[in-house]
Amino acid sequence: MKYTLTCTTCGKTFPDFTEWFNHNQVCPVCHKARVEAHYSTDYQRLKELICDKNRTDFSIWHYFDFLPLKNRENMISTPEPKLGLDRWEFLEKFAKQNFNVDCKVHAFRNDEHYATGSFKDPGAMLAASVLKEAGRNEYIVASTGNVANAFAYYMAKAGVSLSAFIPQDALALNSAGVSCYGEKVFRVKGDYALAKKVAADYAAKYGILMTGGNTDPLRVEAKRTQVFDWLRYLPQFPTMYIQALSGGTGPISIEKAFREMKELDLIKQLPRFVLIQPDGCSPMLQAWQQAKKAGFPEGWKTKYPIIENPVTKVPTLATGNPGSYPIIADLTKKSEGEMLEIEEEKLVDITRWVAYEAVVAIGPAAATAVLGFVQALKEKQVKNGEVILLNVGEGISRAPELLHEMNYTEENVASVEECKRFDRAALKEQLLKKVLA
Ligand SMILES: Cc1ncc(COP(=O)(O)O)c(C=O)c1O
Ligand SMILES: [Zn+2]
Repeated sequence: MKYTLTCTTCGKTFPDFTEWFNHNQVCPVCHKARVEAHYSTDYQRLKELICDKNRTDFSIWHYFDFLPLKNRENMISTPEPKLGLDRWEFLEKFAKQNFNVDCKVHAFRNDEHYATGSFKDPGAMLAASVLKEAGRNEYIVASTGNVANAFAYYMAKAGVSLSAFIPQDALALNSAGVSCYGEKVFRVKGDYALAKKVAADYAAKYGILMTGGNTDPLRVEAKRTQVFDWLRYLPQFPTMYIQALSGGTGPISIEKAFREMKELDLIKQLPRFVLIQPDGCSPMLQAWQQAKKAGFPEGWKTKYPIIENPVTKVPTLATGNPGSYPIIADLTKKSEGEMLEIEEEKLVDITRWVAYEAVVAIGPAAATAVLGFVQALKEKQVKNGEVILLNVGEGISRAPELLHEMNYTEENVASVEECKRFDRAALKEQLLKKVLA
């Protein structure tokens, strides 16, 4: 047996996804819906894969032996020609000059992924492959946007019928990105919480499998390969991980990889999770701040507000009812991390600045993470010597409205007399001032 799935509550094991799906992704003993994958291959092999220099495909399949798929023939594949891991020295200089902090910043980009250009692609790639292997040809997802797009792309490749339930305010682009591959979009008249409910009702009515949310092993197992890649390519393992927070699949998958790497003695310390929410939708942040103020009293992890119909400029982060808060709160505390809030008003300025400095046009959830880095500096969260992994996660192609806002140097002219000579350097101070404001 290549892998097994183990219930994280009662320890019951399932031989594979076929069996887990047959139980409708619920443990028949304890009725909980969370399982974790474990592999029978000697983990030393994983060490070899991490150290393998002869790598040309940067997709998750490099780690096939440690992914829950039995037969390579079922791989739904889009080779990734390069790894989106860049050193962003402009942020290091920024930290030094303005906050007197010495740190290293690595940006984990996903904007050039072949499929849909967000860090939701790897999870969808694995899910489509596993469904193919299990002989399932229907699937359901509720999504604020990026997940639906990624799943539509890969499910279409696997010939699986996907029904994606998105909230009322999801971007038109996101529904087009599903529909264009011949998959189905149900735009629900309400928020993400309602989209999830209607999706679950539809799943129950027709007996169709639905994604298992933030702890779904299909998403977790795929996403955790990013940790293997950091070990492979970074000179030092990150001490801090910054990410925009919606439901928290990112931190959950990193922690899973961390436990595996600790066994192998490859990592000693979990990076501090610094998780960022925009002020338009920040229920986890509010819960965290309240718990922190009260000294994390008994039961603090289960107390969180529910924001109905959140109004935010970052629709991908619009999880107003954060059911995964107990898990994310626990991980944040365990990692000695922090949750921070950013002002959505500043998203356009930070996106212009990053595009100017790094020559990378990022999307709104990614801009949230970069603003979070600035906020972390302002709140003295970044220590000297810190190695930061900044998950930028999506490109601007995911948000045409933001791209429109990038048009800030245009001037209408009718003759050369009206054209003042252009000097790119003059923009620099202007952009920086806005970021620091
Ligand atoms: C670019 C980007 N960053 C962060 C997130 C939040 O992901 P998580 O599920 O880990 O909270 C998303 C979710 O769609 C995203 O697209
Ligand atoms: Zn169980």
